[in-house]
Amino acid sequence: MSQPTIIQDADYLQNNQYKSSANLDARAALHRRFRTAVTPWQVWVFDHLELREGTAVLECGCGPGWLWRENIARIPPDCHITLTDLSAGMVAETKTALQHSGHDFRFQSANIQKLPFPDDSFDVVIANHMLYHVPDLPTALREVRRVLKGDGRFFAATNGQNHLRELWQIGLELWPEANDWLQQLLSAEWSFSFQLENGKEWLTAVFPHISLFRYDDHLAVTEAEPILDFLFSTSLAGSNHQPEPETVAQVRQKLTQQITRDSAIHITKDTGLFYCSGIRPFLHPL
Ligand SMILES: C[S@@+](CC[C@H](N)C(=O)[O-])C[C@H]1O[C@@H](n2cnc3c(N)ncnc32)[C@H](O)[C@@H]1O
Repeated sequence: MSQPTIIQDADYLQNNQYKSSANLDARAALHRRFRTAVTPWQVWVFDHLELREGTAVLECGCGPGWLWRENIARIPPDCHITLTDLSAGMVAETKTALQHSGHDFRFQSANIQKLPFPDDSFDVVIANHMLYHVPDLPTALREVRRVLKGDGRFFAATNGQNHLRELWQIGLELWPEANDWLQQLLSAEWSFSFQLENGKEWLTAVFPHISLFRYDDHLAVTEAEPILDFLFSTSLAGSNHQPEPETVAQVRQKLTQQITRDSAIHITKDTGLFYCSGIRPFLHPL
């Protein structure tokens, strides 16, 4: 099984994993319900964008448009916001949710590796938890730079190697045959993908000024089922080997016992946001 490849396979991403928001929703539910951070993730990201009246924004890999749906009342007037995703299903869901919001949203299927926009089109480009899906990062980042205006700003959110470490260990109990790639995923060797640890190296090739902001959070999970829902929403569940119902029942029981004993299962989060600009560094760290 070669999982790190599957999560960069455009056909799998468009037609399976992100055909609709269902899988992403199961994962986001765990974060939403059991986060310990006071500020929700999408609100925290929006705070960093510092959008002003009239800003032209492009989001690549917008998913179901949560960044905008969760901050709808905070969008300044006259912003022009173009929301794109590789998955036509995601674009359709985003359009349904936002087309009558009263803001100037545009919706389009697009691959970040070949953006269908002229040079110097946007003040802000956002790639929120999507660059690790991109097989050709240098091309994608050159495309972002191309469509950004000279003084434009790029925001790229991603995870670090410790992100959800305990959760993937539970995944190993359900999919022991995934041991090799999960160990690879959790190790420094998985450096071809875009992570907090190596993101600056990738970005430096294109942007002179880069800052990293970390989101301070961990999960305190008090129910077993959302953990299982999360794991079954990942590409692990797309593998040939599926756990037997008895194995799932045993893992569920073990998680429930752990929650009864410790009040909650604590899961590490390791998430952050790179800020990149062509001409000026980030002046007001939050
Ligand atoms: C983990 S989801 C994040 C969605 C959204 N940005 C959020 O934070 O809620 C990743 C999204 O990136 C999209 N995606 C993956 N590869 C892409 C590519 N090469 N170009 C554009 N979008 C892509 C997927 O279809 C999916 O909707």
